[in-house]
Amino acid sequence: MTAKEFARRRRQLMRMIGNDGIAILPAAPEKIRNRDTTYPFRQDSDFLYLTGFDEPDAVAVLIPGRAHSEYILFCRERNPSRETWDGPRAGPDGAQADYGADDAFPITDIDEILPGLMERCERVYYTMGAHPDFDKQVMGWFDGLRNRGQSDGLIPQEFVALDHLLHDMRLYKSRGEIAAMRKAARIAASAHKKLMAACRPGIMEYVLEAELLHEFKRNGCNPAYQPIVGSGPNSCILHYVLNNRGMEDGDMLLVDAGCEYRGYASDVTRTMPVNGRFSKEQKAIYQIVLDAQKAAIEKVAPDRHWNEPHDAAVKIITRGLVKLGLLKGRVPSLIKAEAYKKFFMHRTGHWLGMDVHDVGDYRVGEEWRHLEPGMVMTVEPGIYIPPGSKGVARKWWGIGVRIEDDILITKDGCEVLSHDVPREIEEIEALVGGGN
Ligand code: GLY
Ligand code: MN
Ligand code: MN
Repeated sequence: MTAKEFARRRRQLMRMIGNDGIAILPAAPEKIRNRDTTYPFRQDSDFLYLTGFDEPDAVAVLIPGRAHSEYILFCRERNPSRETWDGPRAGPDGAQADYGADDAFPITDIDEILPGLMERCERVYYTMGAHPDFDKQVMGWFDGLRNRGQSDGLIPQEFVALDHLLHDMRLYKSRGEIAAMRKAARIAASAHKKLMAACRPGIMEYVLEAELLHEFKRNGCNPAYQPIVGSGPNSCILHYVLNNRGMEDGDMLLVDAGCEYRGYASDVTRTMPVNGRFSKEQKAIYQIVLDAQKAAIEKVAPDRHWNEPHDAAVKIITRGLVKLGLLKGRVPSLIKAEAYKKFFMHRTGHWLGMDVHDVGDYRVGEEWRHLEPGMVMTVEPGIYIPPGSKGVARKWWGIGVRIEDDILITKDGCEVLSHDVPREIEEIEALVGGGN
């Protein structure tokens, strides 16, 4: 993302906040794993969206209309000895020179400076609850102002949920964001194809996970979430991440993996037979899910509402399960009774962006939100039949199928960003084991 784009976002948010408001956003804290070892640092998405600043121990402050300095960044000071161990820091000078801050101060001075910045504002725009330690600090500054019994001016009268404004902005992707998401989807597609080629009976699930991670890393990416590589019974565990089972001839394999490219996620699922040939039962279930996904994607267009793809998937899945004898009854009554939830227990998709389950409301008031150009969502129907499923013949047990793609809503319809990964039965059979 360019410096211009970050500046544009800040301006857009400041317009919404107005001249009597102040917005305060903390960076993500660094998390200790043990002793002096930390978990990999991932910046807070809201903070990153507005600043592009990728360090912990920082706070961004926006004060629309403030003379000479509407955008203030508090950050760590330069420290040659720490930088020898941990790498370079921007420091306040770098925050101004390279990140567009009008003014910048050491984070250690924030208790002295920030209350004074809040003082003359009527409204504080802040997301409560995301960073509990920082919540206490903000409340401390506010209490300090109140207790001083302000006589010569204003103190804030109102706390407003900043996430409400910011998350609506994040829902509509810019050209630069779409380019990043297209790239993230492309890298995920390539990783899935490499995994398919390496797939065969007798190896561990984590060996295939390594194929994914290798492809992500060699493109400068990290996984956007823990990859799911679930074979046999594990294909039916929705958030399976152990990935430590030996794969057997005759297993299904469900792989849900996406990467993060420059802060933007992909989220892709493919399902395949471990030995490269779908059994009759696997093929039957797979075809229903594929048909459901295609029907759902057809409903992704600007004139549709959020739930239309889900409704379309539910219809095809219920109809298919009745045809196979896995559900009994009339399709409309089964849909009304949500009988399909025994096998398809999640929703058909979610917003996708900086977060894999991205921000943005799904409803406006009581109504489902309408889809608009620039939004990105996943479409990911599935059918899962765990071993031991009651009232289900044994031949179906252990078949879990999900097919997931990333879809951009365009002016005239949609674009499947992850279209590079094959999903037709013959294509998958041709790819699986091809590298062995
Ligand atoms: N990878 C999580 C999901 O598909 O929603
Ligand atoms: Mn998903
Ligand atoms: Mn997924």
